[in-house]
Amino acid sequence: MKLKNKVAIVTGAGSGNGRAIALRMFEEGATVVVADMNEAGAHETIALASEGSKAMVVKVDVTKKEEVENMVAQTIRELGKIDILVNNAGIVAFTPFLELGEEEWDRVHNVNLKAPFLCSQAVAKEMIKAGQGGRIINITSVEAHRVVSSSGSCQPHYNSSKGGLHMLTKATALELSSHGITVNAVAPGVVQTPFTEKGLAIPEVKQWILDRVPAKRVGKPQDVANAVVFLATDDADYITGTTLVVDGGWTIH
Ligand SMILES: NC(=O)c1ccc[n+]([C@@H]2O[C@H](COP(=O)([O-])OP(=O)(O)OC[C@H]3O[C@@H](n4cnc5c(N)ncnc54)[C@H](O)[C@@H]3O)[C@@H](O)[C@H]2O)c1
Repeated sequence: MKLKNKVAIVTGAGSGNGRAIALRMFEEGATVVVADMNEAGAHETIALASEGSKAMVVKVDVTKKEEVENMVAQTIRELGKIDILVNNAGIVAFTPFLELGEEEWDRVHNVNLKAPFLCSQAVAKEMIKAGQGGRIINITSVEAHRVVSSSGSCQPHYNSSKGGLHMLTKATALELSSHGITVNAVAPGVVQTPFTEKGLAIPEVKQWILDRVPAKRVGKPQDVANAVVFLATDDADYITGTTLVVDGGWTIH
C-alpha cells in the first residue's frame, strides 16, 4: 500500500477518471475526499470502494472560492491534513470558434483553469503550514498540446483552458518546489467516460480515433488513475513540473 496514512482530495471524483483515481487511491490505503458538485455521484464512488476504505464526501463547486476554502477547512478539521490534491474536475463543450459565446468560454475556463488555481492555492497554503511537502496533480489533456478534430469543428475554449493548466502546472511546480511540494500533470488521450460517451457512440468517430492510436483502443479511466497514483507516491519524489501523457501513443506522431 503506497499511500497508507495519506489524505487526498480528488475533485470531480463522482464520475469517470476522478472516480477511478479515488478507487485506486483507496486500494493504496489513502483516505480520499471525494469532492464533486454531483453529491449522488460522489456517494456512488464510495459505494464502489472496498470495505474499510476511508472516505469523506464534500459537495463543492470548485469554481467558487468560498466553497473551495470550505472544502479545505473541512478536510483539515476532520482529517487533520492534506497530502495530495488531484485537480480533475473538468468540462468539455463543442462549439466552433466563430459561434462561441462569452458565457460558454467563461464556464469552460472557470472549471478547467480557474478551479485548479483556487484549489491549488488553498491546499498549498495548508501543505506549507504542515511542513510535510505534498503532491498536486493536474489532469490536463493531449488537447493541451494539440488540436484534435474529427469533423473540422474544434473546441478552442477547451484547448486554451487545458493549455493554460499545462503552464499553471509548470509555474506552480517552480514556486512550490522549495516547500517540498511537487506539481505534475497527467494528460489523457481519449478515455471512455461519460465525458466522451456521446462521441464514442458514433462509429465513424470511434474509428477515426482508433486509426490514430497505436495501442488500438481507447483509454480506460484506470489507465489515468494508475498514472496519477504513481505521481502521488514516493516513487515520484524527484519528478516535478512535468506531464505524463496517457494516450496509447496517439501523440507519438
Ligand atoms: N474522458 C476523456 O477522454 C478525457 C480526455 C482528456 C482529459 N480528460 C479530463 O479528465 C477530467 C475528468 O473527465 P471525465 O472524462 O472523468 O469527465 P466526467 O464528466 O465523467 O466527470 C467530470 C466530473 O467533474 C465534476 N464537475 C464538473 N464541474 C464541476 C465543478 N464546477 N465543481 C465540482 N465538480 C465538477 C462532474 O460533476 C463530474 O463528476 C477532466 O478534467 C477532463 O478534461 C478527459
